[in-house]
Amino acid sequence: MAALSRAASSAIRRPLPRLQLQARAMASSLFGHVEPAPKDPILGVTEAFLADPSPDKVNVGVGAYRDDNGQPVVLDCVREAERRIAGNLNMEYLPMGGSIKMIEESLKLAYGEDSEFIKDKRIAAVQALSGTGACRLFADFQKRFLPDSQIYIPTPTWSNHHNIWRDAQVPQKTFTYYHPESRGLDFSGLMNDIKNAPDGSFFLLHACAHNPTGVDPTEEQWREISHQFKVKKHFPFFDMAYQGFASGDPERDAKAIRIFLEDGHQIGCAQSYAKNMGLYGQRAGCLSILCEDEMQAVAVKSQLQQIARPMYSNPPVHGALVVSIILNDPELKSLWLKEVKGMADRIIGMRKALKENLENLGSPLSWEHITNQIGMFCYSGMTPEQVDRLTDEYHIYMTRNGRIRYDTSRFFITLMQCCISLYLLEDGENKLS
Ligand code: LMR
Repeated sequence: MAALSRAASSAIRRPLPRLQLQARAMASSLFGHVEPAPKDPILGVTEAFLADPSPDKVNVGVGAYRDDNGQPVVLDCVREAERRIAGNLNMEYLPMGGSIKMIEESLKLAYGEDSEFIKDKRIAAVQALSGTGACRLFADFQKRFLPDSQIYIPTPTWSNHHNIWRDAQVPQKTFTYYHPESRGLDFSGLMNDIKNAPDGSFFLLHACAHNPTGVDPTEEQWREISHQFKVKKHFPFFDMAYQGFASGDPERDAKAIRIFLEDGHQIGCAQSYAKNMGLYGQRAGCLSILCEDEMQAVAVKSQLQQIARPMYSNPPVHGALVVSIILNDPELKSLWLKEVKGMADRIIGMRKALKENLENLGSPLSWEHITNQIGMFCYSGMTPEQVDRLTDEYHIYMTRNGRIRYDTSRFFITLMQCCISLYLLEDGENKLS
């Protein structure tokens, strides 16, 4: 069984053998030069997991919330919205920019219910194919209208950020974010990089629950970052994939954005309903860009739509209906707020349980980072080789950067702590501290 698991997991690490490639090349001359793409560092883990026949396998790779039995969760508010849709609403094309209602509600969530920017119609916004689609639309817009600009991306970041700006052909620079020794924020490194970037640079910021580290700046630090952005005239682009999922309160999780708005920045924002409404496969999201005035917003929106049209014409309708029904109806919205808080609280509880259990096992190491980090992931500090061993020997699937998704069964917590402790005992040194 271990051998089979090893085969599955190593599939995400090894390219296809040369002979196989040559055989393919001979079979088809037209596409013979096409080599298999490397496995995706996150979704490739799911592929390897699915290929593993072990009954004991656990997948803590992809960021998708699970219940106590390790099963996917559909929120009650979503089920109710679907009941209202079924048989009642048509499935016509949405406009190129997507559902007006869904966009309106999304803007209230990100910019605040009474936002003056919404009232003044200063925000250009379109429905997007979840957070990825929103980032990609923005990256294409950046390339088209500011072709000489680059994007500063935190180290580390969600692996797909690199793919998105690469495919949009926007040059990438990185900025300091994570401090491996403290398992926290490298605030002075981050501030230095902001200061040293050329004036008017584009920065990608995670609005909350930084993926993969779970390390967010404090409110005070966000204020300093915003101030320095103002001095340098940088443009902040917020990826907000976890609003509500970090603290349990969407308003609190939007704090960084609100600070930048108070300080008078123009901002961009990618929103996703994958995590906070559990609409992963519905690809429901929103891209917004705060402009100087209404006229500029109209122009920017029309250009975003023009970028979307040849790619997918107009966005899918079902997820947008679900989102707008939930956020438009006070009763359903309060059910959603309760459910999103329930998910966030459960993850916070899991963090505490894992830390306590590790301490009770007599681990001499500090596990403070487990409860200091926030959101769906624990950035464990495990090396790629240690992750490979967990996969090969215990059928535990996770990304090779040591990121653990935090929302699965109690059974998993026990299993995980056993494995981590095993490593500590075996290695006899502070590899995971
Ligand atoms: C993740 O980080 O696991 C999720 O955002 C899923 C994905 O598309 O990578």
